[in-house]
Formats: sequence, structure tokens, C-alpha cells
Amino acid sequence: MSKTISLLGLQWGDEGKGKVVDHLAKDLDAAIRYQGGHNAGHTLIVDGKKIVFHLLPSAICHEDIHCYIGRGVVVSLDALFEEIEEAQELIGNIEDRLTISLACSLIQPYHIKLDQLRESSNKSTKIGTTGRGIGTAYEDRVGRRSVRVIDLFNEDNLKSKLEEALDFYNSIFKHSFGSEEIDLNELFDKNLQQGEKLKPYVGNVIQEVRDLQDKGKKILFEGAQGALLDVSLGTYPYVTSSNSSVSGIASGVGISPTDISYSLGIAKAYATRVGEGPFPTELFDETGAYLAEKGGEVGATTGRPRRCGWLDTVLLSNVVRLNGIDGLCITKIDVLDGLDSIKICTDYKSNLNRDEMIETMLIEDVIPVYTELEGWEEPTEGIQNFDELNQKAKDFIQNIEEICNVPVIMISTGPKREDTIIREYPL
Ligand code: IMP
Repeated sequence: MSKTISLLGLQWGDEGKGKVVDHLAKDLDAAIRYQGGHNAGHTLIVDGKKIVFHLLPSAICHEDIHCYIGRGVVVSLDALFEEIEEAQELIGNIEDRLTISLACSLIQPYHIKLDQLRESSNKSTKIGTTGRGIGTAYEDRVGRRSVRVIDLFNEDNLKSKLEEALDFYNSIFKHSFGSEEIDLNELFDKNLQQGEKLKPYVGNVIQEVRDLQDKGKKILFEGAQGALLDVSLGTYPYVTSSNSSVSGIASGVGISPTDISYSLGIAKAYATRVGEGPFPTELFDETGAYLAEKGGEVGATTGRPRRCGWLDTVLLSNVVRLNGIDGLCITKIDVLDGLDSIKICTDYKSNLNRDEMIETMLIEDVIPVYTELEGWEEPTEGIQNFDELNQKAKDFIQNIEEICNVPVIMISTGPKREDTIIREYPL
């Protein structure tokens, strides 16, 4: 039986998924990205050197793992080639173990330009995106006018699609923003050249994944962003433009929803968010500054400081249920070391009742209600065995388990690979 595991961030991204992938890697045969684009940022340390993956699955660092970019991902070829080059400098040739779906929609320069123009305007559509053309590329995808990878190999098709796109986008650039137009011939030639360069990586992901399943291989679905940034289930409109929840896997890879055998959810011991949008437990005081400083909370993709706050189990327990989470990994518990008291948000005061709030995710005006736990003196940093954690840290974990009704199977106690407690191995 093939074992397939979904790895999903349960907050607003940046939960530390890369490190968990690293732990599972020795047992994996394949890893697949299924949504998002180069807006993601997974920081890894390979042979002492820091590398940030945006588009490639972070499992690419492990030479026995075949990596896929599934049909649900929007691909910037500039970003892809840059990342492949960077990865190859560190880990050698990856051509034989990276496959990109023919069905992926491409991020074109006009997507990036429009994303950035909108974000730099004062319009209400501004939400603090990464400025990488993600949302605008998804707009074309659902508008059925994307240039897909397969179009790169049919010159007539490619030219007419780019022509139509530029008719539309250039008129917006000129008339709405007074900005320069993009040249069709230049863009067409660039797409053709990039298509040639992409050929060795292109493949039929659905069939390849079916073959892996039939051979009983172990497959990881590597989520990007986090469940609360899901375009349908997250804090709309302050979300990314894809289904970053488990629900995005089936359509973003091309498998059945019943093909996922284990869902592993990753949450920080506190909460962070980059970009704009509601964040009920956000801290504006010295504790928030302490978490930001100690947790090194700076966005891996944009370098923006992350907003910090307490763990919100109203949201967490909801996404645990929505995503069928079988086990939790709590990361960065060591960042809480030395605090006098630690709060967990367990309820909201709101004009909306809980059901309405979950349905709409309108959480701008809620007031968090906290359970206050005693902090701990004894450091958790570097601990690898649950029994060695101090009792107060154990209580913190137990609270999460009880509220969310799911076991905490892994705890990350520091930045190094070995700083991890594994209570139950999911593979
Ligand atoms: P976009 O995905 O660039 O359109 O940005 C939409 C929102 O999602 C913004 O608030 C971004 O900061 C946020 N976002 C996108 N990707 C990530 C990520 O990988 N980690 C954290 N936030 C992200």
C-alpha cells in the first residue's frame, strides 16, 4: 500500500514546514507541491549553507526523492530557473528528479507587473501580497486564459494567447496606471526560449504519481503558505489565491481526495503573520517584540518583519477539523522559554456566534479570550525526549491536544535538525 502524507501549515504560513520535511525525508520516495508559486519560502541549511526554496519542494535537497510541481502551482519560469541553478550549485544535478506538470499555469511578467502596481496603489484591493504575480496568474487560470506549460510547445497557440493577454494587460497598464506596455515579440521569444530550457523537466504528473502509488511508494504532499491563507477557507480577502488547505491536494496534483493516508499539521507554539489581515491575538507590546526577536520572525520571501502574537486555538481547532489532521507538530516551543506567563486564546467575544464566524472568517472585530498558563524557567531548547520537558511545557502541549482533540506527535525545540521530539513517527 502506498503511504501518502500531507504536510500542512495550520496558521498563516511560516510554521517551520521545511524542518519537518527534512525529518521525514529519509523515508520518502516523492514530494509534490500542489498550489501556490514562488510566494512560498522554505529556509533550509544544507552543509552549513542557507538556502531558501520558493517554488521547488524543499525535499529536493534529498537525493533519493523525486520532486514534482503539480498542476495547481503557478510557475514563474524566471524564478524556477534561478532556483534550479542555485539548488544545483549546492546539491548537484536535479534534472532527473524534478518533474513539472504540463498543466501548470505560467506566471508571466504582466502578472507580476499588475500585482505590484495594484499593491503600490492606494486602492482597497491592496492586501500586502508578495508582489510575485500569484493572484493575477490565478485570476487568468480561473478565467480560462492562462498560458500553460504545454502551450510553450505550440508556437501558434502561444503567440495568440500572449497576444490576447497583452491586449488586455497593456490597456490596463496604459490607461489605469499610466505605466509602460510590455512588448509582444520580446515576450514571445522569451517564452519560446524558456520552453526549450524547460523540456527536460516537463512530464505527466498524474500518471507518474499513479505509478508511484501502484508501486507502494511513500509520497509527501508539501503544502505552501498555511491553512488560514486558503482562498476559500482562510481569512478572506486577506489570503493567497490558491487552496492551500488539504482540499487543494486532489485538484492540485490530480489524485482522489481519498488517496491521502495521513495529514500532518504544523503550528508554531505562538502565531505569526506577514502582510495585512486580521490577527486577533496579535501583540503590540514587549512580549510581541520578544517573540519576533527570539523567533527570528522575518519573512523568508520578502524580508518583511512578521507580526507576532499568542497561539489561537479557536482558529487552530477549526483548521484541524477542516483538514482532517491526524497529528500535530508544534514548532518553536523554545521561543517561549523564559516567559513569566504564556497565553493561549481559547475563545472569542464577538457579535457573530462561533458558527457564523467559522463560516465567514470575519474575525476583524473579535476580542480574544485567553487561558493563562505559567511560563517555565528550565529551557526546552535542544530537548529530544518528551519526558525531559519540564512539566509546564508538557501542560502547554497537553492543553493544545485537549482543545484541538488531536495528538501532538512532534515538537520542534530549536533550529537544528536534531532539536526535535518525535513522539510518534507518521511514516
Ligand atoms: P500572495 O500570495 O503574494 O498573493 O499574497 C497574499 C497574502 O499571502 C499576503 O498576506 C502574503 O504575505 C501571504 N503569503 C503568501 N505566501 C506566503 C508564505 O509562504 N508565508 C506567509 N505568508 C504568505
